[in-house]
Amino acid sequence: MAAPLNRSVFRALNPFNTGSSKNIKKLQCVRNFHLKKLNSQKETAQQSSSSQDPEKETHFGFQSVAEEEKEQKVYEVFENVASSYDVMNDAMSVGIHRLWKDAFLEKFSPSPGTKLLDVAGGTGDIAFRFLKHVGTPTSGNVLDDFHMPRDVTAQVYLDPAESTSSSSSSSDEETSHTASQQAKDGNYATQPDAMGNHVTICDINQAMLDVGKQRAKALGYTTGLSWVRGNAECLPLPDSSFDAYTIAFGIRNCTHVQEVLNEAYRLLKPGGRFMCLEFSEVKNPLLRSAYDTYSFQVIPVMGQLIAGDWKSYQYLVESIRQFPNQEDFAAMIKSAGFRMVTFQNLTFGVAAIHSGYKI
Ligand SMILES: C[S@@+](CC[C@H](N)C(=O)[O-])C[C@H]1O[C@@H](n2cnc3c(N)ncnc32)[C@H](O)[C@@H]1O
Repeated sequence: MAAPLNRSVFRALNPFNTGSSKNIKKLQCVRNFHLKKLNSQKETAQQSSSSQDPEKETHFGFQSVAEEEKEQKVYEVFENVASSYDVMNDAMSVGIHRLWKDAFLEKFSPSPGTKLLDVAGGTGDIAFRFLKHVGTPTSGNVLDDFHMPRDVTAQVYLDPAESTSSSSSSSDEETSHTASQQAKDGNYATQPDAMGNHVTICDINQAMLDVGKQRAKALGYTTGLSWVRGNAECLPLPDSSFDAYTIAFGIRNCTHVQEVLNEAYRLLKPGGRFMCLEFSEVKNPLLRSAYDTYSFQVIPVMGQLIAGDWKSYQYLVESIRQFPNQEDFAAMIKSAGFRMVTFQNLTFGVAAIHSGYKI
């Protein structure tokens, strides 16, 4: 069954029909994306259990799981937390994540006309900061900036008229572009604002994107952004097509971090900039001990009290400890081909901003 499906999906999604090597990677991404979607959960479970090769195990927090299982588990985490994601971010970090994201944009300092790909973009925090930074106009009849009260976000998302499930199609067809739409178009829609600014927000999780879209509407962003659902490890987007690539608090959730970095390199134009904001390692032993106590004793409890979800927040703190430290991650960025690789610690290394260029 699998082989004919493979070929027919691949053929159906081949908008070019040229066989040129330039498009092979993109078509493979599209094909893989659709094959995953078409496979039932049962088939996925069977595949996982039949490929229990210990060499192909990875971590999901502190658990060891088959590589094939991780993506689904991470998907479930963000599906569960989507509606409370913004409120929990504020609660867990006492609002500090906003300062980190502001610092990230300061360091990035995009110039007007930048074409950005924000991967694992979730509910749009980085994208909205980018649009504000480069001066994209809003429709005016909106909250005056993206620091709107987070309960508004949750209410908008929970409105029964608007709510969607993870596998549902987008509620905003004008700005949502699935892999198949992109493939049929041979491209993906980009509607830059009047100054040529544009951000493509990509996330694997439709529930997170849906919250982001509602926030964009509430903020009045009608141009300058589009939404793509896809896996950071294999994106159905053309080579060398972005000036900058950002990923904030997303890469540690991916199964193959090096593949995400390689993909970032492929998607950037020569001279393009890679920027990552991620939790990192607190080196000072005293501070680390206090931070560990807070993380393991307080955050899951908050998750339970605020979002009714202990397990997802337990995963969050565990996944942070599994991610490479600043130096090791910088080495991975270099091995993807980036140059001028640097990092800057935030809050004693609780988080770090990583930067590199495709030169
Ligand atoms: C902690 S949230 C970060 C969202 C946003 N960037 C922010 O800073 O608020 C992590 C996001 O990564 C997304 N994600 C996880 N694995 C992914 C993958 N393989 N490809 C793309 N997105 C992924 C999740 O769906 C989630 O929206």
